[in-house]
Amino acid sequence: MCKKGTFLNVVDMGEESLDWKWELYYNGNKPKNLFRLGFNRENEMDILELIKARRSIREFKSKDIDEEIVDEILEAGRWAPSGLNNQPWKFMVLKGEDKNSLAEYTKYFDIIKGANKIIMVFLNNEDSYNRDKDLMAIGACIQNILISIHSKGLGACWLGEILNQKDQIHKFLKTSQNLELAAVLALGYPHDSSSGSKRKKLKDLIIK
Ligand SMILES: Cc1cc2nc3c(=O)[nH]c(=O)nc-3n(C[C@H](O)[C@H](O)[C@H](O)COP(=O)(O)O)c2cc1C
Repeated sequence: MCKKGTFLNVVDMGEESLDWKWELYYNGNKPKNLFRLGFNRENEMDILELIKARRSIREFKSKDIDEEIVDEILEAGRWAPSGLNNQPWKFMVLKGEDKNSLAEYTKYFDIIKGANKIIMVFLNNEDSYNRDKDLMAIGACIQNILISIHSKGLGACWLGEILNQKDQIHKFLKTSQNLELAAVLALGYPHDSSSGSKRKKLKDLIIK
């Protein structure tokens, strides 16, 4: 978990005065600007550990997740970068019967049914200026959300296969024409630790 003072602690900043946070996290030594935050070796390691320990979680406990916690998770998504800062995302949270109805649109229905809540991320085409860049921004938004979920001891699985049915889901949800489904995240308290996951070696990813 992150210690106080890492930049994850400040992603949830609202527009209100931040002075109390500087007091709390930096003993009153207010950094000159936000970019100062997170730039020391100790914090860097915390973030890397958090990123590496996150796994896709596909089985969940029945325990309910408070709505304030969901808001905090979405707050992490809200602060993602986007081209021209156009913030082309919109969120919808489904639970209960609505959530279970959504399960009919994917072969991964059991993941959706087992989840406590579903976070749906839409591309808001009204705010779009470049489709490629907007989809990249949505990806950054989702990764922020996934890391936030993991940092709270919750688990999630990003479901892409369900997008094959996005037109039918659009009709089911009666969402406005400008909203295009970009991702579905199943969310809940992890049932148990997931199996491991592998990555390509860094040396094989660097082009010389
Ligand atoms: C764009 C995208 C689509 C995905 N779609 C699915 C899906 O439909 N069903 C599923 O079980 N997992 C899905 N996943 C999760 C991946 O299988 C998972 O991230 C990958 O195997 C790496 O495992 P990890 O997340 O535990 O590190 C998706 C992930 C991404 C980023």
